[in-house]
Amino acid sequence: MTSTDTFWMAPLHGITDHLFRTLYTQHIAPLDYAIAPFISITSGIKEKSERFHDFFLENNKLLPIEPQIMANKAEQLLLASSILKELGYSCFNWNMGCPSNQVTKHGRGAGILKDVPKINAILDEFFSKSNADLSVKIRLGFNDTKDLKSITETLNKYPLKHVCIHPRLATQMYDGTVMLNAFDTAARELKHTIVYSGDITNADFLMQLKVRYPQIHNWMIGRGLLSKLNVMHEINPQNPKINIQKFMVFYENFKNAQLERFKDEKIAIGRLKELWSYFVQNEILKEIPIQQILRCQSLKEMDKIISATTK
Ligand SMILES: Cc1cc2nc3c(=O)[nH]c(=O)nc-3n(C[C@H](O)[C@H](O)[C@H](O)COP(=O)(O)O)c2cc1C
Repeated sequence: MTSTDTFWMAPLHGITDHLFRTLYTQHIAPLDYAIAPFISITSGIKEKSERFHDFFLENNKLLPIEPQIMANKAEQLLLASSILKELGYSCFNWNMGCPSNQVTKHGRGAGILKDVPKINAILDEFFSKSNADLSVKIRLGFNDTKDLKSITETLNKYPLKHVCIHPRLATQMYDGTVMLNAFDTAARELKHTIVYSGDITNADFLMQLKVRYPQIHNWMIGRGLLSKLNVMHEINPQNPKINIQKFMVFYENFKNAQLERFKDEKIAIGRLKELWSYFVQNEILKEIPIQQILRCQSLKEMDKIISATTK
């Protein structure tokens, strides 16, 4: 890796909250930045409200973040910008990539990729009224890539801080492979700094990307940080190698932090189950019986299964 490469923790809604970001950085591997999972903006939202807890600077001391906002109107981005300024942020990210039907049916997330003139109008109004730094996170399109060229042309008209791209269509959700042939167009056409996001789980794939896109130096990793706990070690051997003991220190801290935050065992269990579906993809954790974990009703039960397999 060159010293100019930066590694970003991808936003994974429901997973990479500030507790995860902090403890991962502390116990598993350092990263350079993170985009915090989105918060939806609706009018009338209160400044500094608990809703923005994940973005509070005091919760993000170890790993600097760019907050992410879900919005489909310029006025929502402007409102977000003033709230985030109060919280100490001069830059934030607009989510234009979430593929969930609940989100896209309202023209939010990747839903907005179907309406390029609307993207243009929102950016136009935002930049005419605000001097905040804005970045965006996009996919290659909704159903197909026919609008990709006009999306890149539109984004090129505005002074975006950077453009994060997950090279899938919204209809692919998270399945199948990343569409590098179509991503070539975006990588070639975009004038902005690009942050690549998709399927980085090992150093070999990263090297292939670096050869194919020598102009890209920002690499975002999401699921790979969980399903390949040593991905950052593989990328840079100076990062610690994670064994089961080190993992368990991270896990125990994370579990206790979730319990303390939510004060509700059911919420903590739900979150931990989601994490385990990724963790068991690691060689060091493959003996964990995931079906039993997913059936657990209490943390005590879960702990018992985990400690029986990790000893
Ligand atoms: C469970 C889950 C939640 C996600 N939440 C967000 C989100 O809040 N904002 C966003 O821009 N992308 C979100 N993504 C997309 C990721 O940030 C990333 O772009 C995508 O997973 C591809 O990268 P990866 O293969 O390294 O995970 C999410 C993905 C997953 C699997």
